[in-house]
Amino acid sequence: MTRIIGVVSGKGGVGKTTLVSNLGVSLAQEGKKVAVVDANLSGANLGLHFGLISYPTSIHDVMRGNAAIGDSVYKHPSGVDIMPASLSIEDLDVEPRNIKQEILDNLSDKDFVLIDCATGLDRETMTALDMCDEVLLVTHPELPTISDALRTKTIAKKYDKNIIGIVLNRVNKSDELKKENISAFFDLPVIGIIQEDHAVRKSVEAKNPIVIENPNHRISQEVKGVANYILGKEYTYKQGILDRIRSFFRK
Ligand SMILES: Nc1ncnc2c1ncn2[C@@H]1O[C@H](COP(=O)(O)OP(=O)(O)OP(=O)(O)O)[C@@H](O)[C@H]1O
Ligand SMILES: [Mg+2]
Repeated sequence: MTRIIGVVSGKGGVGKTTLVSNLGVSLAQEGKKVAVVDANLSGANLGLHFGLISYPTSIHDVMRGNAAIGDSVYKHPSGVDIMPASLSIEDLDVEPRNIKQEILDNLSDKDFVLIDCATGLDRETMTALDMCDEVLLVTHPELPTISDALRTKTIAKKYDKNIIGIVLNRVNKSDELKKENISAFFDLPVIGIIQEDHAVRKSVEAKNPIVIENPNHRISQEVKGVANYILGKEYTYKQGILDRIRSFFRK
């Protein structure tokens, strides 16, 4: 059965797209068949994370009924199939449409479809949310962002989505809110803590997810931990020597 998981947040820029690309690859590396879908119709960039820059058809064409799902999915060497959104401003007027059934009919071989959602609570986000069965909530560990994420959680619950848990991203040493407090606040497990690290930006600029570019990096290990949590498996972190030294001094 295909699991459709939406990656959502309250505020923008918290790292949803970066997580979708890296999680997609991590699940593929675990032997799963994965597709990633850019449902951020007005802020498309998921394809770019995979080096997919120009493509004849996109989710916009599917939503307009001008293309079939099969014609808007592109294969990445990692094994992940990508359904990008159009980068053209001329496509911004598309009416968001729930294409869940078309996804299920055409991507029925997939174990996972990860949906990169838009930010905010407008029609675009609601339509994307409506397409998912499960949801991953991404947030920074700071109060205003958490407060917005809580609103998204409440709506996801109202839509009857199974909320898998929270991924804290761009975490700094100076962040004061701790995992336990955040977990209690949301009444959800924190399933990943991803540090702020320049290596993420570098991999995005290289158009290559960090789990491919640097699989032993602490960020990659953390994402693999999230992938294994979703798969219901234990994950033992493989840390490089530098990360071991960092962890030692952080204790
Ligand atoms: N752990 C991290 N450390 C450092 N930079 C990060 C990290 N995660 C993401 N970034 C950077 O943060 C920026 C925003 O990330 P991303 O585009 O994934 O967020 P988003 O939630 O999808 O944003 P939007 O709401 O606009 O779609 C990008 O420049 C990305 O490279
Ligand atoms: Mg994004």
